[in-house]
Amino acid sequence: MGMRILGWGTALPDKVVTNADLEKTLETSDEWIVERSGIRERRIGDSTTDLAVGAGRAAIGKAGVDPASIDLMILATTTPDQQVPATSAQVHHELQLSGGAFDLNAACSGFVYALVTANALLSTGPKRILVVGAETLSRITDWTDRNTAVLFGDGGGAIVVESVPDEGQLLAWDLGLDAEARHILQADHGGYIKMDGREVFKRAVRVMVDSAKRTLEQAKVRPEEVKLLVPHQANIRIIQSACDRLGIDREKAALVMHRTGNTSSASIPLALVDAIEQGRLEDGDLVLLAGFGAGMTWGTALIRWQA
Ligand code: UT7
Repeated sequence: MGMRILGWGTALPDKVVTNADLEKTLETSDEWIVERSGIRERRIGDSTTDLAVGAGRAAIGKAGVDPASIDLMILATTTPDQQVPATSAQVHHELQLSGGAFDLNAACSGFVYALVTANALLSTGPKRILVVGAETLSRITDWTDRNTAVLFGDGGGAIVVESVPDEGQLLAWDLGLDAEARHILQADHGGYIKMDGREVFKRAVRVMVDSAKRTLEQAKVRPEEVKLLVPHQANIRIIQSACDRLGIDREKAALVMHRTGNTSSASIPLALVDAIEQGRLEDGDLVLLAGFGAGMTWGTALIRWQA
């Protein structure tokens, strides 16, 4: 058994914060932020529930299915609205879904972890699963710390998947974790994100490339056969460096970070949906999702696109 993607959607807060806005309160510049990260603006506001509901509703609408026919939801997030209950409970209620729902925290790899989990669960009972990545990183960002404040944003993205009797669209995947590096990116309860940016950068390129190679080898696919790379949107230089090392043309990367910043679990679905809406995908195209983040986690997944 496998999975088929039925619908997709996103949600972003209305409020835009540009690099020029940040220049007013931080010792930074638009030039530095664009050159070092690729980010020009980010969206700030709403709750994680609001963004998950907005993205989920759009994905269900695109799929054209009854919300009650969705019998499981997985919400990837590092920024739940409450400690208890899980944010997925309120999202499940507002979307009027059936079955169960749970939150999953694998940091910025969360969406890939959730998709792989959904794919596996589809062969055990549920027929349709809503997979969401939604974050309000602005709530755990120290807006006086220029090392992190220029990087993060809020947003949500979602897809609806359904079980099919054949291999389906998820061809291969690789999930991993190096807990030795868990201290280089963290936020305590009630605290802010603290990050050793250079160390994260170095490791991010390495784990993304190694994981992508394992996934491509599993599927017996050559890097040049990949039509679209959908990487975690943390830094344009990480993405370019990974592309070069993998042998995937830089132009094949889906990019939204210039207008969203780094939205952790939401960044891969935001970039994927943007690429779909720009008409960058045709049936049969191979799409490689690649996440990395705190933990340090990583996850790559190869999909054969079928609209
Ligand atoms: O989603 C989770 C994964 N997170 C990531 O993938 C983030 C990975 N890391 C990065 O993206 C990059 O390391 C950053 C964008 C965070 C930083 O870029 P960098 O090229 O690694 O800069 P750096 O940390 O080496 O800092 C260079 C200089 C420093 O000054 P000195 O020590 O050379 O005098 C920083 O203090 O830039 C300074 N700096 C800034 N200057 C202006 C740091 N932040 C800023 C800023 N504006 N916002």
